[in-house]
This record gives sequence, structure tokens and C-alpha cells, in this order.
Amino acid sequence: GKGAAMVTAVAFRLAIQHAGRQRILDALRLSQEQLLDVKRRMGEEMNRGLAKESHDQATVKMLPTFVRSMPDGTESGEFLALDLGGTNFRVLLVRVRRGKRRSVEMHNKIYAIPQEAMQGTGEELFDHIVHCIADFLEYMGMKGASLPLGFTFSFPCHQSKLDQGILLKWTKGFKATGCEGEDVVTLLKDAIYRREFDLDVVAVVNDTVGTMMTCGYEDPLCEVGLIVGTGTNVCYMEEMQNMELVDGSEGKMCVNMEWGAFGDHGELDDFSTDFDKAVDEHSANPGKQTYEKMISGMYLGEIVRNVLLEFTTKGLLFRGKLSERLKTRGIFETKFLSQIESDRLALRQVRSILQHLGLTSSTCDDSILVKEVCSVVACRAAQLCGAGLAAVVDKIRQNRNLPELKITVGVDGTLYKLHPHFSNFMHETVRDLAPQCKVTFIQSEDGSGKGAALITAVACRIRDAGQC
Ligand code: GLC
Repeated sequence: GKGAAMVTAVAFRLAIQHAGRQRILDALRLSQEQLLDVKRRMGEEMNRGLAKESHDQATVKMLPTFVRSMPDGTESGEFLALDLGGTNFRVLLVRVRRGKRRSVEMHNKIYAIPQEAMQGTGEELFDHIVHCIADFLEYMGMKGASLPLGFTFSFPCHQSKLDQGILLKWTKGFKATGCEGEDVVTLLKDAIYRREFDLDVVAVVNDTVGTMMTCGYEDPLCEVGLIVGTGTNVCYMEEMQNMELVDGSEGKMCVNMEWGAFGDHGELDDFSTDFDKAVDEHSANPGKQTYEKMISGMYLGEIVRNVLLEFTTKGLLFRGKLSERLKTRGIFETKFLSQIESDRLALRQVRSILQHLGLTSSTCDDSILVKEVCSVVACRAAQLCGAGLAAVVDKIRQNRNLPELKITVGVDGTLYKLHPHFSNFMHETVRDLAPQCKVTFIQSEDGSGKGAALITAVACRIRDAGQC
């Protein structure tokens, strides 16, 4: 009768809605084949970045770091470290002990980098940094001490030695003027000089390198450093003979891949969606860091928000009502992604998170859908990241002509550490796409700061031994 016809009509409408939602989400799902393609293209870009003739056109810059040796436990002393470019800016004092009581002891203080300093002039930014160092030394009761300093500066830098780094371009929302093309060690030293004190800046270090070093101090198989936080990037130990940009062919050197720029010449165009394009368009650096924008914490929330906007506009979510909040850029911080996907969370709590975000008209169905969107976006990020990493470990294996490689990857970053599923999806992808590599992942504790101090310690050990 009539009732049955109505039930059928409702069922039909729901089925159409469901299909509509899935069609949108399907654009964000990647097949094994597509992931293999990402791995292959990343491998090609790595070779192009390493080779002299293709380097200038390559998106993945494969930057030499002049870090050649891992700490061997004989380092010792007191060092300062700075950590700029992650979630927080930190100043650290690191005491390294050798011998039987080999250990690393750290004190650190977190400082905010005000928006004006991030986006004002370089001089303001570096004055602020030096102001924080001075405050820290006073706080530690070490005013006037002149210690060797390692500077973790997590942006792409061209290095021709350990204590020099020419900033190629800002990433992750930084845009202080007058820094690109300049040596950040000089910028730091000038600011130190302006405040009339003295520090010995020994090394500029990328956060990936610091992370690898820190993990390598505990595990000699650790030859890769990975960051998945505000941004994403990898470093690893490459054979000198493959590094055409550096003289010499003996031994290995750590390469800062700057893989976040992968895709900037269209290598990811087949996988990129309208949501990715919207995020890119409104970012501080449109057209740049394509891969990073599909993976890292600074952007995933925005991808999710854009998907939710589309659902709502199509009448598939929030009863088709677009709220002002949903139209506001940046409301979805990464920590919400981690919270919403937490398995211990009941849907009721998902709803209260949404309410907290000002998305008040949500129903239970809405909560399910929002959770699904978060999960699809995070899963794609983890898989893309895993596909890139598969290319890296397979390259190391091929470098050594091995049928099987055992290797450890040191990892840091808030997304990797705090998201309930990211790491699992990522590990699984690496296992699938690089079956000949047995990869162990270890999380670094405070990797970037500690690592900068260890690298400084190694440099001082070598310098003091008169070997350099
Ligand atoms: C960005 C930076 C890179 C850094 C990464 C993780 O991609 O360009 O240098 O390692 O973020 O912080």
C-alpha cells in the first residue's frame, strides 16, 4: 500500500544520499596501485634531486647536511640548543656525559613566537630568539656563559658546511622578511652581537636530522629520521658517491630530503582533490609543499573542513545548514582529528566536540559522517607518507645491493605521536610497498633539540681532536 511506497521512497532517498557521500569520499581513497605509483615517483624525484644536472628542476631537493658520523658515546660537555620550526620554540641546555655513565641530561624552556615575529622582519624574529636565549641563561643561573650552540632550524636550507645554512624558502606559515637567501647562522650571530654577548654557533640542523641522531644514539641501525607534525619531512644516510652536489665519494652523509615539496611540479596531480586545491589556495605558500599539505598536521584539519563544507552545501550534512563556524578557516585543529578518531570516544562525545566547534545542529548521523571524513583524510595522509617512506628504505636497500634490509626509522611529530591510527596505517603501507625491508620505528623523545646538541658535541669532539 501507500505506507510501503513511502518506506521505499525514504529508503531510496537514503541510498542516494549514501551513494552521494561515498562518491565524494572515494576521491580521497587511494588504491594499492596508486600508492605504488607514489612510491615510484618519489624514488625518481630522489634521484633527480641527487644528480647535478637535474637538481635545479627537482622538487625533492635532497639537501646535503654535512652530518657524516653518528655519535659514538665519547662526546661530552655542555651545549645550548635552539629548536625553531615545530609547534613550539624551545631553548635547551644539554649535558652530555661519556663513558660508563654515558647519558644526556636536558633542561628546556618553551617560548611563544608571537605572530608579529613570525611574519614581521627577520631582524625582529632573530632579536626575539636571542632575547629568549638570554632569558633562558638567566633562568638557569648561567648568565654570561658562552657555550657551543646547535640550532635546530626546521626549514629547507642550502648547506656547504655544518655551521652555515642558507634559507631557501619559508614553509609552515612562517614568512619573516629578509631571511630567504640569507645564512641563518649569520642572522643569529648578528642578533647575538646586537645584544652584546657571545655564543659559538657550531651547527645548523634540520629537525629530521636531530631526530635521527637522537635515535641513533640508542640504536645504531637508525639511519632514517621522519617528522610528521606541523610539517612533514625525512632525512637518511646516503652514499657519498651518489651525492653529486658534494665533493668526495667515501662513506655516507645525511641528506635532508625536504620531501614536503614533492608534487610541486604536478607529480601528485592525479591524486589531488578540490579539497586539496582549496587548502593550498588559502595557505601562506600557494603552489608549494604539495605533499606536506596532504599529510601534515597544519593542513589535515583544513582538508576535513573543506569536505564538510561540500557535504553541507550538497545537503548531506548538518541538514544542509552552513554555519559561520564551518566557514571559518582553521577551526579544525589537528588535535580534534585525533580526539574524534579516538576509539574510546562514544558518538555522543563526538557530538559534543562538534558542538564545542559551534557546529550545533548536528545529529547522530552527522557525527558518524564527520568521524568517517576524519578517518578517510587521516588514512590517506598516512598511506601517502608510508608510500614515500617505502621509496626511501628501498633506495637504501638498493644502494647496498641487499636482498633484504633491516633498518630503524626514528620518528617525531605530534600527528604521528598523538593520532590514534596514523602510525598503524603508515607502518602497514611501508610493509606492503617495501616488503624486502624490515623496518622498525622508534619514537624519539625530544629528538630535535637533543639531536642538535649531540651533533654539536660530535663536531666539537672532532674539532678538539684537531681532525678538521
Ligand atoms: C617542513 C620544513 C622541513 C621540516 C618539516 C618538519 O617541511 O620545510 O625542513 O623538516 O617541515 O618540521
